[in-house]
Amino acid sequence: MGKVVSNVKVAEQVYLLRVEGNYEGSMGQFYMLRAWGHYPLLSRPISIFNKDDESIEFLYQVVGEGTALLASLRSGDTLQLEGPFGNGFPVAEGRVALIGGGIGIAPFYYCAQQINSDIYLGFSTEAYLQDAFSKLTSSLHINVGGIVVDDVDFEQYDTIMACGPHAMMRAVQTKYFQSSRRAKVYISLENRMACGIGACLVCTVSCLDGRKKACTEGPVFEAQEVTFHD
Ligand code: FES
Repeated sequence: MGKVVSNVKVAEQVYLLRVEGNYEGSMGQFYMLRAWGHYPLLSRPISIFNKDDESIEFLYQVVGEGTALLASLRSGDTLQLEGPFGNGFPVAEGRVALIGGGIGIAPFYYCAQQINSDIYLGFSTEAYLQDAFSKLTSSLHINVGGIVVDDVDFEQYDTIMACGPHAMMRAVQTKYFQSSRRAKVYISLENRMACGIGACLVCTVSCLDGRKKACTEGPVFEAQEVTFHD
């Protein structure tokens, strides 16, 4: 069980939860969080936003009953954390761009502390945490209401890491195919998950070489390996 240090609203329906303790985890990995008994049944997969020797932070959006219960946590409350899960992002090489859309910005705060990178953040209605991100890069691009992927010149980068809704990840893949493919491009998928350990198959992703589990073989995939159907 983890003990809540703080749980702060940073934008409409978006919260930053800090939990006491020295937790494991690398760039792009996630934890399964649970602050309830038997219902809602499933724990919620939430990316590592930040961590140090004393605490770990999670940025999440309230989208249902589980995340609403997370939002009701107060300092001193306890919750269940399991993880870290997932493959995470690989070590990046060369000039790097990080592209986050909506709550998909979450993994890139921790990434940007370890990688010298240009950061592109896209929001539908309201930007948040831009001051925090601006301390980690000299090249921060914020897009509100537009298509953040359009702001990125793929030819300028050796490595591109992206996280966001499926439509955005599909746009990243399309742009990758249209580019000279010089850059290594990775997409992190926000799939629905249940067990987080490869047992339930809720999170499967269609890939060129068959179906893969986002929780154990992802959530990070090379852009060209995913086959989007929708
Ligand atoms: Fe159960 Fe991935 S969440 S197999």
